Amino acid sequence: MTTPLIELRGVGRTFEANGVLLPVLQDIDLQVNPNEILCLVGESGCGKTTTGKIVAGLLGQTSGEVLVNGRPRESYTGAEKTLLRRQLQIVHQDPFASLNPAHTIGQILSFPLQRHGLVKDRADLRRRIWELLTLVDLTPPGDIVNKYPHQLSGGQRQRVSIARALTVQPKLIVADEAVSMVDVSIRVSILKTLHRLKDELGLAIVFITHDLALAKYFAWEGRIGVMYLGRMVEIGPTPDMIMHPQHPYTRALMAAVPEADPDITRNKQHIALRSDDIPRLSEIPRGCAFHPRCPQFKAGVCDGDVPLLMPVQGVTQTVACANLSPHPVG
Ligand SMILES: Nc1ncnc2c1ncn2[C@@H]1O[C@H](COP(=O)(O)OP(=O)(O)OP(=O)(O)O)[C@@H](O)[C@H]1O
Ligand SMILES: [Mg+2]
Repeated sequence: MTTPLIELRGVGRTFEANGVLLPVLQDIDLQVNPNEILCLVGESGCGKTTTGKIVAGLLGQTSGEVLVNGRPRESYTGAEKTLLRRQLQIVHQDPFASLNPAHTIGQILSFPLQRHGLVKDRADLRRRIWELLTLVDLTPPGDIVNKYPHQLSGGQRQRVSIARALTVQPKLIVADEAVSMVDVSIRVSILKTLHRLKDELGLAIVFITHDLALAKYFAWEGRIGVMYLGRMVEIGPTPDMIMHPQHPYTRALMAAVPEADPDITRNKQHIALRSDDIPRLSEIPRGCAFHPRCPQFKAGVCDGDVPLLMPVQGVTQTVACANLSPHPVG
């Protein structure tokens, strides 16, 4: 059996806001295997970025356990920790904010290569920078290397961010809304590049998006995890998530995805929620947090215990919904 690159076991995270502890993540179980794509989707504020930061090691959990390569993250010491940081990289939404405007693209890529001793000499450094720019389809590299971030387009800047993440030869990249700020036409081309990088370099990618249509396109051979108010409500292989969604929240999200074919869009069944308001983290509803909005709400069932993720008969995903009959395991 493959050891997951990263595993979250019952992970929770709280943040303090105005003297109140907000449960931003609760009881997250998650595994990411080498060379796998996992998409995290859900409405704004559901905890996608917080999960991505915990995966990338930028943020600690307040409860539960995080294992990297099968070992608790806390058990790594000294030089091992540096290696670990290299293995797990994150690409943020806004490359403008994360690329230093005072440095050329060549310098931006040089720093991590030199800091981690990944190049022998100047010739090796140049060769590696050329290689990285080519990998992310910024060609010819000679046209890019001496430019400053503001001299590039948004799409090109995001490609530089990806190249910078690749400098340290990571095993996993968290791409947090990495294409949300670029034009639709460029979005697809960057996603194609990311896919190729996954195949060529054997990368695992945690792709964070609020756009299910993008998740479907990008992660068809991977998995999608749907989050709601800090919990995972459904997770599984993309085809089943798209074609046989089980959780009423996933169904509502799927029903709202526009299709390229207008006939399919017209015939799609609209799912009316009982409320459009997302509850506040300071007042998370009892039981299933989705119950005040759920069209299938059953009093005494949905507002009782918090439902756990369970396998469901006939499909491959696991679902946290007390209204679904669980599939006997074993
Ligand atoms: N450092 C922090 N201090 C206090 N609250 C925080 C902090 N970071 C995140 N939060 C809160 O945690 C919740 C989840 O935030 P997170 O950024 O993980 O959501 P998200 O799913 O990525 O949302 P979006 O789609 O808008 O990016 C939000 O309510 C946010 O306000
Ligand atoms: Mg976010």
